Amino acid sequence: MADFVGALDQGTTSTRFMIFDHGGNEVARHQLEHEQILPRAGWVEHNPTEIWERTRAVIESTLNRADLRHTDLAALGITNQRETTVVWNRRTGRPYYNAIVWQDTRTDRIASALEREGKGEVIRHRAGLPPATYFSGGKVQWILENVGGVREAAENGEALFGNIDTWILWHLTGGTDGGVHVTDVTNASRTMLMDLETLDWDDELLSFFGIPRAMLPKIRPSSAPDPYGVTRPLGPLGGEVALSGDLGDQQAATVGQVCFAPGEAKNTYGTGNFLLLNTGTELVRSKAGMLTTVCYRFGEDAPVYALEGSIAVTGSAVQWLRDQLGVISGAAQSESLARQVDDNGGVYFVPAFSGLFAPYWRSDARGAIVGLSRYNTNAHLARATLEAICYQSRDVVEAMREDSGVSLDVLKVDGGVTANELCMQLQADILGVPVSRPVVAETTALGAAYAAGLAVGFWHTTDELRQNWNEDRRWEPSWTEEQREHGYAGWKKAVQRTFGWVEV
Ligand code: G3P
Repeated sequence: MADFVGALDQGTTSTRFMIFDHGGNEVARHQLEHEQILPRAGWVEHNPTEIWERTRAVIESTLNRADLRHTDLAALGITNQRETTVVWNRRTGRPYYNAIVWQDTRTDRIASALEREGKGEVIRHRAGLPPATYFSGGKVQWILENVGGVREAAENGEALFGNIDTWILWHLTGGTDGGVHVTDVTNASRTMLMDLETLDWDDELLSFFGIPRAMLPKIRPSSAPDPYGVTRPLGPLGGEVALSGDLGDQQAATVGQVCFAPGEAKNTYGTGNFLLLNTGTELVRSKAGMLTTVCYRFGEDAPVYALEGSIAVTGSAVQWLRDQLGVISGAAQSESLARQVDDNGGVYFVPAFSGLFAPYWRSDARGAIVGLSRYNTNAHLARATLEAICYQSRDVVEAMREDSGVSLDVLKVDGGVTANELCMQLQADILGVPVSRPVVAETTALGAAYAAGLAVGFWHTTDELRQNWNEDRRWEPSWTEEQREHGYAGWKKAVQRTFGWVEV
């Protein structure tokens, strides 16, 4: 057997390819950003062709850098930004429209109409999701209704729908020349179209959005001993490698953090934050604003479910400080600027740029900075931005506890923002529990590699994977209980101010 496994992580802002050895150590990587297309307020698009080109480029350059060939890879896993929606033509390979990104809010009226028409409860129960702009169903409906010729092409099976995993798998396996049209259960569980119990597309849900079945990919396990396909020799790998792992990026990070037992959780700090709690084979329906989602399905084993708290804007609020306000020149500076002050000086920043996701699900909310006085400086704003990341995570942890009864002893974290030491200390302070970061911080790509490698016998058991997890750093809470409660009360008040800002 070859010595390595490859993983492609196609995220919201960039695409990276990574190669791991048997110990779960990174051997090589390359990463490229792609354009964020913002045609109107609330709209976010990506060019799917650019994403495929970036995919090709990062795979080729990673192999070159490491001086490896396709024969050195035992398998390949894919992980992706979830919900982002592509519809393309099976014969030409051309997308009918840009990819509509998960953060895009153009479908707010579609989502609120579902609620008004009483379909919300059916979606909540069957798909585990509240009707919201976040998920793929409304985005597909929007393309069917607004792009000429797509509905007819979808009905006769010529137009294909996929999330980014499906788009990339189709290309890697040959594209117009016999590419496979598949997805996995975790990605399908983010569409509002799949029944969480049958793990199949649901006709009634499809009818809510007017989506023809003919355009949907086949739903497969996240780790597939019978692979989805093999890479084509003419593609970026230059030969055949089994494609045997596919899962949404947050589920992949849960696997990479080896959260295989019920009650184990991780929080990923990227453009947004996503806290997933493994609930085992039990499907826990949330009453507190969490999502019920598939965590992973390995081969024909029973699916493992998770409760998820999704937060739309965390790391991207730091980017906003840099790109839109110009108060910092890079992410690292958010830490040094925030360190200039001892506290937030009374300022709270609620970055509800895409409305508020978990646990509020308010598409009528918009961002607010409150509590300002003349005393405040950029440093308070930077500090309030880091605190916003942590307070939003606390909201989710509280809701998770309400739903599951699970109180976390420690919060496992990963993702880009975890490099910000002050933010991690604030997280421990605001939650009142220790925060722990693993040595391999690229848990998303690692999880996709694990899923692919388990399928082909590169790794044999999840216990073997647990051996690979090691703590790098831990932050202990230092605030008093009074400080914690006072700070959180201010946050809750600030959140209320953002509700009902726009009409939907
Ligand atoms: O649900 C959206 C999530 O999958 C995006 O993750 O890391 O690409 O921002 P990320």
